[in-house]
Amino acid sequence: MRPLIAPSVLAANFANLQAEIEMINSSEADWIHFDVMDGVFVPNISFGFPILEAVHQYAKKLLDVHLMIQEPGRYIETFKKSGADSITVHYEACTHLHRTIQQIKDTGCKAGVALNPHTPIHFLEDIINEVDLVLLMSVNPGFGGQKFIPHTYRKVEALKRLINERQAQVLIEIDGGVNQSNAAALLERGADVLVAGNFVFSSTDPIQTIAELKQITF
Ligand code: DX5
Ligand code: ZN
Repeated sequence: MRPLIAPSVLAANFANLQAEIEMINSSEADWIHFDVMDGVFVPNISFGFPILEAVHQYAKKLLDVHLMIQEPGRYIETFKKSGADSITVHYEACTHLHRTIQQIKDTGCKAGVALNPHTPIHFLEDIINEVDLVLLMSVNPGFGGQKFIPHTYRKVEALKRLINERQAQVLIEIDGGVNQSNAAALLERGADVLVAGNFVFSSTDPIQTIAELKQITF
């Protein structure tokens, strides 16, 4: 099985976003990863609805929205209206995670839950059968271009075990510091979706870099 590749817009050239989205459209990427940060849940502010609408206008790939915001339930409808196909919220940011996941599903979007590097997989036991994807942060969220945390490998294994035990239909997405040197080991352990920001956008040939990630076998 070949991985799904999700280039992260956070690392794109914002002054020429249309060209960046068209580059992703013409590549072998499967999804476009869209990181929303509120300056509260994470120590950074990225972008929100108007930029998502602008991306949506040109995007021909699924828009994978990753909400690094406190109490995201307040904004689910608006993200859907702005073009999201998939909405992922943080376990650590939701007081009523089960309700928020249902809210996402009610909009028709795929529903995802994200875990910070310190949050154990077993916290997902009572929600795993309700979600479409689990996003494992392999860096502390807030910034692109950080170093991959190797402990993520063990978390992928534990998550894959939980998914199999519960016979859940859930994709495993890895986000942060993903590159050519850790991709195969992640896929071997059960990852399905690889987010890549700087690795793609800082390369001399992003389309080729995406193709190489897509080609990785395991
Ligand atoms: C980090 C974001 C990531 C980020 C990944 O908080 O959630 O999606 O864009 O960027 P790289 O691949 O550069 O680590
Ligand atoms: Zn992300």
